[in-house]
Amino acid sequence: MKILGIESSCDETAASVVEDGKKVLSNIVASQVDEHKLYGGVVPEIASRRHAENIHMVVENALREANCTLDNIDAIAVTYAPGLIGALLVGVSYAKGLAMDTGLPLVPVHHISGHIAANYISNPTLKPPYLALVVSGGHSHIVEVLDYTKYRIVGRTRDDAAGECFDKVARTIGYPYPGGKSVDEASKRGNPEAFQLPHPRISGSEYDFSFSGLKTAVINLVHNASQRGERLNLDDLCASFQKTISEILVSKTIKAASDLGYKTIAVSGGVSANSGVRRLLADECEKHGFEFFCPELKYCGDNGAMIASQGYFDFLAGKRADESLNAVATMPITEV
Ligand code: KG4
Ligand code: ZN
Repeated sequence: MKILGIESSCDETAASVVEDGKKVLSNIVASQVDEHKLYGGVVPEIASRRHAENIHMVVENALREANCTLDNIDAIAVTYAPGLIGALLVGVSYAKGLAMDTGLPLVPVHHISGHIAANYISNPTLKPPYLALVVSGGHSHIVEVLDYTKYRIVGRTRDDAAGECFDKVARTIGYPYPGGKSVDEASKRGNPEAFQLPHPRISGSEYDFSFSGLKTAVINLVHNASQRGERLNLDDLCASFQKTISEILVSKTIKAASDLGYKTIAVSGGVSANSGVRRLLADECEKHGFEFFCPELKYCGDNGAMIASQGYFDFLAGKRADESLNAVATMPITEV
């Protein structure tokens, strides 16, 4: 079964054809990052306009690269929530138009379940149940994946998402948006023990995250140094920050897996591209005898393949939308 997946929730216009949820026949991503970089972050109005300009070409290219026409497609999956409302609307409207024109079923996909599904593409042996750490620019969740379409959230961030924290630290030290990748690169040259940065103390759910204290500690270090006319070693600062945020993400995930009896952990989302997070989680999983999965780098950030993959599982579970489907900016993943 071939699904066309369409994704436009933030600053990538993406489309992909995936067969049976796992075999990627094409994966086209038109990134707007270079334009948003000029403003230090995503400008929603610009994102919507670029999606509208690019979506037709991106979908055409995805079909062409997969050697398909719409006649060979069995269903159209589209990200409808959560994300920037104007950006989401472009993908949703385009997908609805295609579905009405062709009579193909339309499958609404939640962006976070899409990120979770990225692991089925890169790791075809992965099967629920398992524990997922989903870390992106907008989300930081520990999720029990009970089935391909059934979830229970056990941990979430109280403030910034992990990706946001990377981006804000990067911005403070003068790296361009989005800064996660630059911080990761700088970390490889730095000493992770150079700065002692705080781990959060959170009351309530022990699996919840909070990154604002860590972010503020880095910002204060940078500002205090600049007021004293001192130059910080930014490679060391990045390495220390990356080590700390990796420890926070990994310790909570391992604790949740141990407490809840999971033996398999999968990480996904833009921040799952981070070399420190991947390494530490892989090491800790090995220590605890857990199986560890992560997506290939090209499926960590936003892409259409993860939407087509989840679209397949949602289709099998009977999820359908009609022309009344609307985009929704804020919507938690549906829990059982
Ligand atoms: O999943 P994604 O592409 O978009 C959202 O759904 O938000 O995630 C984007 C986030 C950005 O904050 C970006 O800085 C971060 O992922 N990111 C990274 C790395 N590559 C991307 N963060 C840390 N290390 C990386 N190598
Ligand atoms: Zn995303």
